[in-house]
Amino acid sequence: MKRKNSFQTPLFVIIILVFAIPGSLFSQTAERVIPANAKSLVNPLKDSAQFLPEAQMIYRKNCRPCHGNSGKGDGPSAYTLDPKPADHSSDKVQNNTDGELFWLISNGHTETPMVSFRRTITEKERWKLVLYIRSLAKKS
Ligand code: HEC
Repeated sequence: MKRKNSFQTPLFVIIILVFAIPGSLFSQTAERVIPANAKSLVNPLKDSAQFLPEAQMIYRKNCRPCHGNSGKGDGPSAYTLDPKPADHSSDKVQNNTDGELFWLISNGHTETPMVSFRRTITEKERWKLVLYIRSLAKKS
């Protein structure tokens, strides 16, 4: 029987090239891709005043080291980080929908120090953090 190796080797190489080249190009950028259905999620917690004191405690414990007490991105660990922690009072962050903020807290941002809090902070607490981030917006 004829051996097929002379055919299989180039095919194998082509397959590697097809998958590896685009992969190595895209891994250069830490683009964030938030699924459309996550963007339009609505915060189930409405009454900010009721939840803010607790939200502040969760924030101080989990977020303050990087994002700072008032969310400006100036926490004690911030100066060692690249990229720098986002300023939660900025328009850039405030322009996210509630669903986008929730998604970012839940999933983190790959290839940056912003980790996923899905396992360590309950879903309800993550929505409280979204309320808290809103409360940090610059007063105009
Ligand atoms: C270890 C440091 C660190 C901790 C702890 C941390 N973050 Fe971050 N966070 C970052 C960094 C760095 C970025 C910027 C990532 C980037 O540039 O894309 C970021 C980005 C974000 C963003 C995205 C803002 C945007 O519009 O791009 C949100 C929202 C956020 N953090 C919320 C939180 C919350 C809420 C907590 C606490 C539960 C938290 N982070 C804890 C480092 C941290």
